Amino acid sequence: MLKLRHVYKTYQNDRHVLRDLNFEANESGLYFIKGESGSGKTTLFKLLTAMTKPTSGEIFFNSVSISNLNAEKISEYRKNVGIIFQDYKLISSLTIAENIALPLKIQKLSATEIQKKLNALTEKLNLKDFINEYPDYISGGQQQKAAVARALIGNPELIIADEPTGNLDAQNSSGLIQILADYAEAHSVKGATVFIATHDESVLQKNNRRTLTLQNGQLNS
Ligand SMILES: Nc1ncnc2c1ncn2[C@@H]1O[C@H](COP(=O)(O)OP(=O)(O)OP(=O)(O)O)[C@@H](O)[C@H]1O
Ligand SMILES: [Mg+2]
Repeated sequence: MLKLRHVYKTYQNDRHVLRDLNFEANESGLYFIKGESGSGKTTLFKLLTAMTKPTSGEIFFNSVSISNLNAEKISEYRKNVGIIFQDYKLISSLTIAENIALPLKIQKLSATEIQKKLNALTEKLNLKDFINEYPDYISGGQQQKAAVARALIGNPELIIADEPTGNLDAQNSSGLIQILADYAEAHSVKGATVFIATHDESVLQKNNRRTLTLQNGQLNS
């Protein structure tokens, strides 16, 4: 499980974005992280995915400190983390199917195995209509769903979703939250942990779930 101990992140010597974050997700399931634009949600997620290091403090995942891993250990850790970026980060030279399958390719699964998982997931998320398209030729909402599928396909224990409903209408947005909540519950024996950042109050109100607030550099439940 995930644990933050006295985590600070300062940019440019004096921009103190995160100040002494302490948090323990001792239960699997879904957590919303709310905070105004600029409050540090993406900064926090970059730390949780080991894209950057804390200025000080430590982050533990399943009791292993991820704050100071070398490159090899970071890629090992990331196999167990599904990331949904605020700007999707789909690769424009690959089809949606190829984008979604990428984590499995990296894990060197066989083509048959990849196809099987891809079929099941695209069916479930209702992506069949556009899996052979390229990202630049589909809507923002469709790209967002593809990014979610890519995060889930490797069956990771931790999902980090940065504003995953930003481009979806109310119905699709609630549908997507439900997919992530179901995923958290269904994942193997102990369940998965899913963090969803949002500054959209209506998403929070419609989906009554555990919510942590990021404000003035601090995380409060
Ligand atoms: N690489 C960086 N260098 C310097 N300052 C940064 C950097 N990244 C983020 N910041 C600053 O840190 C603060 C938090 O940014 P962050 O992107 O984490 O906010 P956010 O909560 O994700 O906002 P939004 O809801 O708009 O996505 C902002 O003041 C931002 O300008
Ligand atoms: Mg952000």
